[in-house]
Amino acid sequence: MKKRLDNLIANAGIATRSEAKKLIRGKRITADGKVVTDPAAKFDPEETKLEFDGSPLRIRDYVYLMMNKPAGVVCATEDNVFSTVCDLLPEEYQSFAPYPVGRLDKDTEGFVLLSNDGDLAHRVISPKHHVPKRYYAKIEGTVTEQHKELFQKGVTLEDGYVTMPAQLFLLSADEIELIIYEGKFHQVKRMFEAVGCKVTYLKRLEIGPLVLDKTLALGEIRELSDQELELLKSVL
Ligand code: URA
Repeated sequence: MKKRLDNLIANAGIATRSEAKKLIRGKRITADGKVVTDPAAKFDPEETKLEFDGSPLRIRDYVYLMMNKPAGVVCATEDNVFSTVCDLLPEEYQSFAPYPVGRLDKDTEGFVLLSNDGDLAHRVISPKHHVPKRYYAKIEGTVTEQHKELFQKGVTLEDGYVTMPAQLFLLSADEIELIIYEGKFHQVKRMFEAVGCKVTYLKRLEIGPLVLDKTLALGEIRELSDQELELLKSVL
C-alpha cells in the first residue's frame, strides 16, 4: 500500500515525523536511487527501495508498546475530559496510531499494551483465547483462604454473571494477587464486591506471558522486545 514518505520514514524508527520531513528536505532519502524532497510523496515500500544516506530502511507496519499506566488517565484514544493513554505516547509512535489493547479503569495503574496490530489485539482480548491477566490489589475487608476456593469455583456478580475460575494469592492481610482469564467491566472490583470486600488500589502486573517492566516509571512506555512479542504470539 502507498503511504506518505514522511510517515514511512517515521515508521522506520529513525526519526519522528517532523524530523523525517527535515531528512527528506535535506535530500537524505532516495527512492529507487533517486532523491525525493517532497515529504507528501507516496510510495509502497514493498515496491520501491527506500534508502537513508545510502542504507536501506527497515519500514514496519506495526508497533507493540508496554505502558505503565498511571491513575487518572483513561484507556482510550480520545476523551473530551481526561488525558488518555494515547496522549502519553512519545511522538515517534504517533504515526502508527496505536490504541490500548483492552482497558484498565481510570483509577487502575499498571500494564497496558498498545498496538496498531488489530489481529493481535483481537486475539489478546478475545475470551476464546483465555489470556491470563495478573493483578495486584489492596483490599478493604477480610480476605481469607476461603476466598481462594470461591474465586476458583467462580463468583456470582451483582448482575448474575458467574465468573470463570480465577486464582487468588494472599500476600498479607490486605494485599492480594489475582489471575483472571476474562475481562468483564470492572471485573476485579466486582469480584471482590461479590464477596463483601472492596478494592482500594489496583495494578495490572502481567498480560499472558508478559511481565510489566519494573524499570518503567508510571506513564513511561517502551517497545516490546522481539522475544516478548514472540512469546505473546506463541500463546495466542
Ligand atoms: N478489573 C477492574 O475492576 N478494573 C480494572 O481496571 C481492571 C480489571
